[in-house]
Amino acid sequence: MLTGKNIILGVCGGIAAYKTPHLVRLFKKAGANVQVLATASALEFVSELSLATVSRRPVLRDLFELEGPGDDDKTMHITLGEWADAFVIAPATANTIARLCAGLCDDMLSVCFITLRPDKPVLIAPAMDGHMYGSPSVRRNLAALAAQGCRLLEPASGELASGQCGLGRMPEPEAIVEAVGEMLRPAPASPLNGLNVVVTAGPTREKIDGVRFLSNYSSGKMGFAVAREAARRGAVVRLVTGPVSLVTPAGVERIDVESAAEMLEAASRFFGTCDLFIGAAAVADYRPEAPVQGKIKKDDAEMELRLVRNPDILGEFSAGRRPGQISVGFALETGGGIGYAREKLERKRLDLVAFNVYDGVSTGFEVDTNALTLIDRDGNVTELPVMPKDALAGQLLDSIEQLLPSR
Ligand SMILES: Cc1cc2nc3c(=O)[nH]c(=O)nc-3n(C[C@H](O)[C@H](O)[C@H](O)COP(=O)(O)O)c2cc1C
Repeated sequence: MLTGKNIILGVCGGIAAYKTPHLVRLFKKAGANVQVLATASALEFVSELSLATVSRRPVLRDLFELEGPGDDDKTMHITLGEWADAFVIAPATANTIARLCAGLCDDMLSVCFITLRPDKPVLIAPAMDGHMYGSPSVRRNLAALAAQGCRLLEPASGELASGQCGLGRMPEPEAIVEAVGEMLRPAPASPLNGLNVVVTAGPTREKIDGVRFLSNYSSGKMGFAVAREAARRGAVVRLVTGPVSLVTPAGVERIDVESAAEMLEAASRFFGTCDLFIGAAAVADYRPEAPVQGKIKKDDAEMELRLVRNPDILGEFSAGRRPGQISVGFALETGGGIGYAREKLERKRLDLVAFNVYDGVSTGFEVDTNALTLIDRDGNVTELPVMPKDALAGQLLDSIEQLLPSR
């Protein structure tokens, strides 16, 4: 995806800057040309020599540098903005985020951000202490940058340099390279372009008490792949997801929920406006009838857990939808034929059902591959053999495109 692409990598003064030589190496390995622009603070955290060596170009920092890639007849801060196919800022500090938001222009990174051609994608990977990330000013600045078209790569959760544990880590370089590849992958002309699509993904958690829950092995990978592919085809995608540890696909609006009831509440906000609803979440069918507030104490007696039915999110969408809205579901079994999937198609009045078997090795939950049997409302059956979930998402959306009402 990145062969011959010109990438500006803006590196800021956060602790995660130590990961950027590896990030540059991955970009180079993927075939890209990389020009590093470092802030003065960045070079307190990572050596200029390392970045220059792995990128095979001098690191630019000073606004008044004279040599760099691009058209020799123009000054560098302009030529760089023209040369780039994408601008990646990783790690993006709270400080630089604020400066970009304000339109400041006093180092190479901030000037190039402004001179970048408007059709060139920008990816910002914020990385900072969890409290900083949650602060109203950082939230506000990030929202403003997103509103002007920058894509944000959500930080990962985990151990932070501050000693805290939580949200704020820069995503691993592999995830950043993948996101840039996605941004630059040419979108096929698709009937999904401009449509409103809602995808549900991941498991739900149904509380037993304050520390325990019922759930399943769903990783969310299939749903995220579908959301990513729909966004690539130009759809406006809302991804309502249960608890998963996956990077939000570029250009997708993500809504995190925990229980089936919360998933219904979040998804139903879009029932009226969406053109296509894809239920890929593994929603728990049942929940404990009366979750306990604190932790249930152990004693010698046996314990019974009474379960009640959860709402049927896809069923509710299908039942209330207006003509032209398309409803797609997944049916997962641990074996057997497609009878159950056909029954689900009928019962929930779906336009298409994707049947998959959980074999714990190459299909179903958790793994990166899957195999699907697609059954549509006209009874057509399409067998998709084992392949990466990203590729399957493409084939699934190809089939869904055939069912869309002509516009
Ligand atoms: C040890 C240390 C670690 C830091 N880590 C971060 C960080 O991860 N994220 C962040 O936004 N700021 C961090 N800062 C603060 C920035 O370095 C500071 O705001 C600086 O002005 C950023 O400059 P820049 O945005 O021009 O690179 C850290 C500071 C120190 C001293």
